[in-house]
Amino acid sequence: MNSKKNWWLLVIVSIGVMTPFVAPYLTFNPDNSRVVIISPTIQYPVLIAHIVFACLALISGFIQFIKRIRLQKPKIHRFLGRLYVGSILISGLLALVLVFYAENFTKAISFLVLSLIWLYTCWKGLRAAVGKEMNEHRRWMFRSYGVTLVAVSARLLVPVLLLTYYILNGFSLPAGREKMIEEVLNVNIWVGLILNFIIIEWRILNSCKIKSNNAQRDGIQI
Ligand code: HEM
Repeated sequence: MNSKKNWWLLVIVSIGVMTPFVAPYLTFNPDNSRVVIISPTIQYPVLIAHIVFACLALISGFIQFIKRIRLQKPKIHRFLGRLYVGSILISGLLALVLVFYAENFTKAISFLVLSLIWLYTCWKGLRAAVGKEMNEHRRWMFRSYGVTLVAVSARLLVPVLLLTYYILNGFSLPAGREKMIEEVLNVNIWVGLILNFIIIEWRILNSCKIKSNNAQRDGIQI
């Protein structure tokens, strides 16, 4: 399968995974929230805004990686770039507020680290674009989007982690189903983050290798 097809597969899988998670929040009714709402006046509106801007980042990010638009429609690329960066800035800062409402310390730390990495990678990508360092910009935006996609991979990994928990406990649930789900939801962000990090760094290294091989073939010194 070529990388264009892989990309569209990723788009479809991401929309498929995220739609059922996002939908209950589009009713704007705290009773439909999957997250326990302690404060309907602060936590709930912050959560809704976080989700709306995160969705904008996810969608605008997808379009940014379409080569045809990037090369032939630079104005659209710049507009979507601003939308992507602005959405992450707002959604990432709101996620920092949500950390205070996290169910437990383990989840709070994973969301805290994820928000900070999300903001940092996006900031580095923006700085490189402003400084016209386009290779550096591409690399950091790849990393930034890898972090955005942790929202998808962490959720996709849940069934795999549930199965792993079951196997590691000798095909039994000694502390019950609730405990199993709790333990899995405490680690899925970390596993998603590490997995996405490895995939993105591997892709970056690979594209550097291809560029250097092409340059060698064409007799260009890099
Ligand atoms: C990558 C950086 C992200 C961080 C740090 C982050 C952080 C958070 C936090 C702290 C919560 C509250 C969860 C809780 O208290 O248990 C949350 C919930 C949520 N976030 Fe994000 N988020 C990120 C990306 C995204 C993206 C890209 C999307 C979707 C496009 C998204 C969609 C949601 C949804 C739907 C919820 C509600 C929880 C649920 O029902 O599963 N988030 N996020």
